[in-house]
Amino acid sequence: MNLPNLLEAKKRSREKVLTKTNAYIIENNLKNLGVGKKYYVKTYGCQMNEHDTENIKAILEDMSFTEALEMEDADLILLNTCAIRENAHNKVFGMIGRIKHLKETKPNIMVGLCGCMAQEEIVVEEILKKHKWLDIVFGTHNIYNLPNILVKSLKEQKLEVDVLSCEGDIIENIPVKRDSKYKAWVNIMYGCDKFCTYCIVPYTRGKQRSRNPEYIINEVLELVKNGYKEVTLLGQNVNAYGKDLNSDYKMENLLEDVANTGIERVRFVTSHPWDFTDNMIETIKKYDNIMPYIHLPLQSGSSKILKLMGRRYTKESYLELYQKIKKALPYSSITTDIIVGFPGETEADFKETLEVVESCQFDSAYTFIFSPRVGTPAAKMDDNVTIDEKNNRLQRLNNLINEYSKKANDAYLNKVVPVLIEDYSEKDSHKLMGYTDTMKLVNIDGNEEYIGKIVNVRINEIKTWSMDGEIVNDHISV
Ligand code: 5AD
Ligand code: SF4
Repeated sequence: MNLPNLLEAKKRSREKVLTKTNAYIIENNLKNLGVGKKYYVKTYGCQMNEHDTENIKAILEDMSFTEALEMEDADLILLNTCAIRENAHNKVFGMIGRIKHLKETKPNIMVGLCGCMAQEEIVVEEILKKHKWLDIVFGTHNIYNLPNILVKSLKEQKLEVDVLSCEGDIIENIPVKRDSKYKAWVNIMYGCDKFCTYCIVPYTRGKQRSRNPEYIINEVLELVKNGYKEVTLLGQNVNAYGKDLNSDYKMENLLEDVANTGIERVRFVTSHPWDFTDNMIETIKKYDNIMPYIHLPLQSGSSKILKLMGRRYTKESYLELYQKIKKALPYSSITTDIIVGFPGETEADFKETLEVVESCQFDSAYTFIFSPRVGTPAAKMDDNVTIDEKNNRLQRLNNLINEYSKKANDAYLNKVVPVLIEDYSEKDSHKLMGYTDTMKLVNIDGNEEYIGKIVNVRINEIKTWSMDGEIVNDHISV
């Protein structure tokens, strides 16, 4: 049993990160383990987790498991979890309760927990205390070892916990079963070294490790060859890409090389204002296939709170960067993340956040109430904001954000914009759905022949969270 250890997870050494190209090995005797059995992976949290799930699915299929459409039909259920806020944590324990009931009627199902929550001491302690009936727990650093973890639990007929709290390696040969045939997630780096005081990610995902550019470019070239239209370069803090590689190769170089692969759309998330350079802005401007969409978390508009958060920028420097981006890329859409109710946030601090929102007029924003995470510095800070006040601030912030989202969307009425058609709409099976270059969701009348193509769409109705449009000419890409 390997248990998580937050103190270990916090350490950052100068040791070189290892890139392993043969860590994932599937022994012959494991290749048929899942014959006739089905798996179901439930994913919580961010795009990084969604992409990890694509890896987990491929590993399970290498063992001959097939995917179940419903959890109730599965022989193996995995919860790929998120630790960022308490409500994600609570949802997972709620789900564990539900699965326990299911196991009473189907005692042979295997159940596992993985992802960021598995990296938390308090979570694993709770599982060992109350949910020893689970079969496996594994973390974010050893997904590649899933076959062996599963087999160990099967052999010993007991809970196998295998969580590593090291800084992490880079594993290059994990297979992937992508959800989409047209757009793909591509990890460019793992972990984070920023240690914002509220954030659990540097502990659950380890040290910042940039993938070697050749591996990234080759992955994208392969995707182009297989007909993919869009890649999203993934990292907790993508602008810091390359800082750990001991070379001059930075995010702007990577963006340029990825753009030059010929892929039709390049996106990247998430940016940190601290590392967003002028060269990055120039590169985005230079390439038509780098999408004019930037997610630029603000977190707070008060320089005092930003300092307590350890964000390394001020209200003024954020605004300066924002205006610089908008000036260089006037058509771009910019979205953000904001936390309210951080310890010590006064009404005056909160008003500064509202002022920044008024000034930037974001296209949209994810807004959160501060959630203390055990082991992070902010969890120990004096939290003097009442829950009523936090709810009130969130409500007022959301009202303002929604006002500007509507305004930003209204500007699209009667405009013609490029949309990558992904599928039929989940809400209305007669319509197609896709995203504009600026990441606006559009529902469109049309038929199957457009799926997987980038088409010109005239926007003819603006709704609260989406737009309706019609295809105006033949597709612009095949
Ligand atoms: N409490 C509330 N929100 C948080 N986030 C990260 N950690 C916390 C926390 N402890 C938010 C930040 C981040 C987004 C992914 O989640 O806004 O950008
Ligand atoms: Fe968390 Fe800050 Fe790293 Fe983002 S940059 S993952 S908020 S520590």
